[in-house]
Amino acid sequence: MLSFIWAEDANGLIGAAGQLPWRLPDDMHYFKRTTMGNTIISGSRTFRSYNKPLPGRTNIVISSHSDFPDGVQVISSIEKLCDLVDQNPDKQYIVTGGANLFSQLLSRVDRLYRTKIAHEFSGDTFMPKIDYSLFKQVKSVPGVVDEKNKYPHTFEVFDRK
Ligand SMILES: NC(=O)c1ccc[n+]([C@@H]2O[C@H](COP(=O)([O-])OP(=O)(O)OC[C@H]3O[C@@H](n4cnc5c(N)ncnc54)[C@H](OP(=O)(O)O)[C@@H]3O)[C@@H](O)[C@H]2O)c1
Repeated sequence: MLSFIWAEDANGLIGAAGQLPWRLPDDMHYFKRTTMGNTIISGSRTFRSYNKPLPGRTNIVISSHSDFPDGVQVISSIEKLCDLVDQNPDKQYIVTGGANLFSQLLSRVDRLYRTKIAHEFSGDTFMPKIDYSLFKQVKSVPGVVDEKNKYPHTFEVFDRK
């Protein structure tokens, strides 16, 4: 099973100069809870934004290069990645971005973990357009807003129909 997890602002923005455009610890905790124990798959630019394998998860990076830290499995093509996912139908593989990787896997994804942030930020990287008519929303839960989490946000899950 292939899933995506990401957070986007009111305009579908996801990145700014190689980083997240916002600070939202509640979403980082949700990311950790959701991905823990699973295999996460990142494009090399997204991996470079944290630059170390995330603990408790199998870390795969998609790249044409091989200079990544120990504890990271590098896969050099989308075809090889799709073969791996197909060979392990009982496992959940969660794509953590970025936009480049999401767009190549859009036709394959089974589940979407989307955090929708009700605010407009500035940046340079947008989520590719998703045809939500192909998906059914199965969850929508508001996140915590407090002094550390200033922007209203909702945790949503969609499964392919
Ligand atoms: N808001 C969110 O939830 C969220 C989530 C993820 C990322 N982001 C943000 O999004 C931005 C990064 O996204 P991005 O779209 O620029 O980059 P990306 O998808 O993270 O990485 C793209 C890179 O991955 C490698 N790659 C991709 N497809 C490949 C393929 N088929 N075969 C081999 N290698 C492949 C290439 O790197 P090589 O040159 O190494 O081959 C490519 O340049 C950052 O700002 C990040 O913070 C936000």
